[in-house]
Amino acid sequence: MSEAAAVPTPSRSLWGQTEGEARRRPLRPGDVLRVIARARRTAALYGAGHPVVASTMREAHGILAGLVAAGHSLRVAIHEDTFYVERTVLLEESLQLYALLLDLREREVGVLEFHAGVEVEELQHLVEVLNLPPAELRREGGASHALARRGVRHITVGPAPAAPEELRLRVDPRDAYRAGLRVADELTFQASRGLPLEMRKARMVVNALLDIIMEDRAGLLGISALRAYDEDTAHHSLNVAVLALLMAERLNVDRARLIAIGLAGLLHDIGKVRVPREILLKAAALTPEEQVVMRRHPVYGAHLLRNLPGLARVAFIAAFEHHANYDLSGYPRIGTRRFPHLVTRIVQIADFFDAATSARRPYHRPLAPAEATRFILDKAGTIFDPVLARIFVHALGLYPVGSLVELDTGELGVVLRPGERELTRPVLRVVQNRFRDPIAPYTVDLEEDPERHIVRAVDPEAAGIDLTAHLQVQ
Ligand SMILES: [Fe+2]
Ligand SMILES: [Fe+2]
Repeated sequence: MSEAAAVPTPSRSLWGQTEGEARRRPLRPGDVLRVIARARRTAALYGAGHPVVASTMREAHGILAGLVAAGHSLRVAIHEDTFYVERTVLLEESLQLYALLLDLREREVGVLEFHAGVEVEELQHLVEVLNLPPAELRREGGASHALARRGVRHITVGPAPAAPEELRLRVDPRDAYRAGLRVADELTFQASRGLPLEMRKARMVVNALLDIIMEDRAGLLGISALRAYDEDTAHHSLNVAVLALLMAERLNVDRARLIAIGLAGLLHDIGKVRVPREILLKAAALTPEEQVVMRRHPVYGAHLLRNLPGLARVAFIAAFEHHANYDLSGYPRIGTRRFPHLVTRIVQIADFFDAATSARRPYHRPLAPAEATRFILDKAGTIFDPVLARIFVHALGLYPVGSLVELDTGELGVVLRPGERELTRPVLRVVQNRFRDPIAPYTVDLEEDPERHIVRAVDPEAAGIDLTAHLQVQ
């Protein structure tokens, strides 16, 4: 077993550039896969002896040296469709470098381990070996033999570790969110060009989100509460997927159906790609004519999703019905059915909450999260499914993560997590004292502190409080 692949922020200038040009982003373990993928491509394109290849190798080597601390090693393994290091899934790399994953698998390489002291030539040999056609590699006795024959000592490869039952891989919520945004953007792009939607990636992201929700509900809620500060469809789609999963996870639904519900959330507004941009991005209220066009997006969406196979087909239904309302008072008119589909009713609440609380439309004042949950409860039974409305508010808490609230002591706090037992007693980060002076923030669990009570939700903008800063410290 390798030493923990501690990833220091290397002091060297990154990417072989001068300090001024250096990328700000610290190296991450997944970067090793990126540089290998790039080196393989360059070598295949130019041939091993080309100067471009040599410089790519040096760059790759520099990155590796930054990642593998002295005396340590970095071990990347494959499990099913994912790369992982230690027990953390490299989600972005698993999505983006899928071709590399398949190539490695074809060459029976399931583990790549880099040891401190790895040399540029060894990296070159690795790339050479990985670029051999699988049949030729087998004739050489497999990748491990081929490397040994070339004198490579600081890189070892092996077959994928047998997946033990207890292999519990975890996904970092921020990675999942970032990967999700990218996938949402890609889906939008594909839909706008009439290309087939790449559902494999969408499924992987939803799978990862679901794992996170099952492990730590509040972590992901916190991240999705940051959404209001980035304004685009990708954020909205992803937030709706997260919120829909948070609700659905409380229903008695199997995992395959949960994934389908997440996908339905992710894809519900895909039809907007056919709404002209000037309407979509208009910074003022829509005219009645523009509204007619905008209101076609459910029909467009259904058309785009009409061929999804299997359980994912509910995404087609949810796209079509998500503005229809529980009492069918919305649009489009949907025939004789009494209610929209269960999945639609889930997605609809998630959609309303995210749209109402985000700052996407400049001519609308966004609702505070607590106002939005109140509205959902008020309209339970008419606009929203009454049972699901309650489930939603239970999942989020009456004061959802990211709400700013005033306590009876006059202090102000930001909600970090919903209360475990009581809707009105979440975990807070107190940021102002009763004189409304900023203080060194501290965390209080209201379920453990019966003395203090929330009196109301407060508009963060009016109070001059930047929620982002407080939510990121979680
Ligand atoms: Fe919509
Ligand atoms: Fe929406």
